Amino acid sequence: MKQTPWLAFSIDRSAKTPVFEQICSSIRERVISGDLAEGTKLPPTRVFATELGVSRSTIITAYDQLVAEGYLRSVQGSGYMICALGEVELAKRITSKRIKRVDEQTRLPIPFQASQPDMRLFPHRQWAKAVARVCRTNPEAMLISNSYFGNIQLREAIAEHVSEWRGIDASPQQIFVTAGSTDALEICLRTLVGTGDTIGLENPGYQPMRQFAEAHGVAVSNLNVDDNGAEVPRTSSTARLAVLTPSHQYPLGGAMSPNRRLEFLAWATSQDAWIVEDDYDSEFRYAGRPIPAMAGFDHVNRTIYIGSFSKIFSNSLRLGYVVAPEALIDRFQATLKRFGQRASYMPQQALADFMKSGEFYRHLRRVRRTYGDRRKFLLDKLARDFTDFGSCVDHHAGMQVVFHLKEGLKDVEIAKSAAEIGVATQPLSQFATGKTGHNGLILGFCGISEEEMNPALNALKDCFKRHLDRR
Ligand SMILES: Cc1ncc(COP(=O)(O)O)c(C=O)c1O
Repeated sequence: MKQTPWLAFSIDRSAKTPVFEQICSSIRERVISGDLAEGTKLPPTRVFATELGVSRSTIITAYDQLVAEGYLRSVQGSGYMICALGEVELAKRITSKRIKRVDEQTRLPIPFQASQPDMRLFPHRQWAKAVARVCRTNPEAMLISNSYFGNIQLREAIAEHVSEWRGIDASPQQIFVTAGSTDALEICLRTLVGTGDTIGLENPGYQPMRQFAEAHGVAVSNLNVDDNGAEVPRTSSTARLAVLTPSHQYPLGGAMSPNRRLEFLAWATSQDAWIVEDDYDSEFRYAGRPIPAMAGFDHVNRTIYIGSFSKIFSNSLRLGYVVAPEALIDRFQATLKRFGQRASYMPQQALADFMKSGEFYRHLRRVRRTYGDRRKFLLDKLARDFTDFGSCVDHHAGMQVVFHLKEGLKDVEIAKSAAEIGVATQPLSQFATGKTGHNGLILGFCGISEEEMNPALNALKDCFKRHLDRR
């Protein structure tokens, strides 16, 4: 077999980076630098495995990863070859002076967009197989909904998921499939409160929830957030329900202390109120053990749990779920029958199979590893090169970090300038109501790779400098 000297590189077995990732990085670098041109064929997996002295499955994993990232394509009968995709061009196009806004056509992520998973890592091949299998073996399951509450097999898979990952013991009957967590939040409001009622919302917090409540004539009581999490409503408050993000406060990032959780449960019991736990991204924890969901240790059954597939799987799938306490099953069923099911039925059976086969978890673990690396990269850079402008608190979780700005720098102004050069930062102050003093930038780290972050960070730094000089 002909030698392939351009792929010759050594594997560092003492490195922490897995071997397959070392292979990926090496090929990625060569594609970006132009060493490997579009159409170049890669060695067959068996040959390459022998050449490197690794197992064939390691090479297959590396190639599959690069296919998912868009660097390679697999051609039936011909093996793998390099493809020229926009993401590679982006790395070349970005300059520190001007980050070109990525247009709709290329569909590349905008640097630092918050709550944005990297859909280039989506397991297309495995998902396509799961969908094809349902089409072949059980096509009715894609078209004919047999329940207002979601596909029963998906509800079973979700029951297992929340038990394993979030410590929640629930039967499939307690689970209702929704069109993402925003829909789930709306279903909770429709079920549990009416016009004129008051609900407690974290401040700062998730703005679409506040807008929905206000649009439906529900009064909002602000729950300010301190180091232990959201503050418990006062006993004089008439709040019927509190919406919380206890595992990972949105957008600040901390976890609610155990004591504060108990205070909330005591409040809900004494006021005959409910807690809605919005757990939209808590599978993404990068150090230590996952923080158990509040619903997992709620022995008074006052917590309604909301989860979503938008962040951990696909934001365009629009699927999420509610886990209701048994006492509320009838009320949730009534809401869904009255307002109808908004979740798309078509992908539900395939998703159930995908979860049960373990493919879903392989993907989840893989993106969690990638996002963990990206998070570390961003935090290291901010700690090293951005100390003149502000600082971050590392909560080891989630999809974004908050960069708290130094006095004199205003988040809204900087976010505006950054947007003009194609960098998407969200001003923290816009997530808060009233004078909370929050002044920072929310930086998403999941949607773009380390290579793509670099020029965007340079551009952001220039932007900070310009604002400092203007003072
Ligand atoms: C706190 C919070 N809740 C809910 C959502 C919405 O999730 P979904 O896309 O599942 O509707 C988001 C989206 O970023 C969020 O940040």
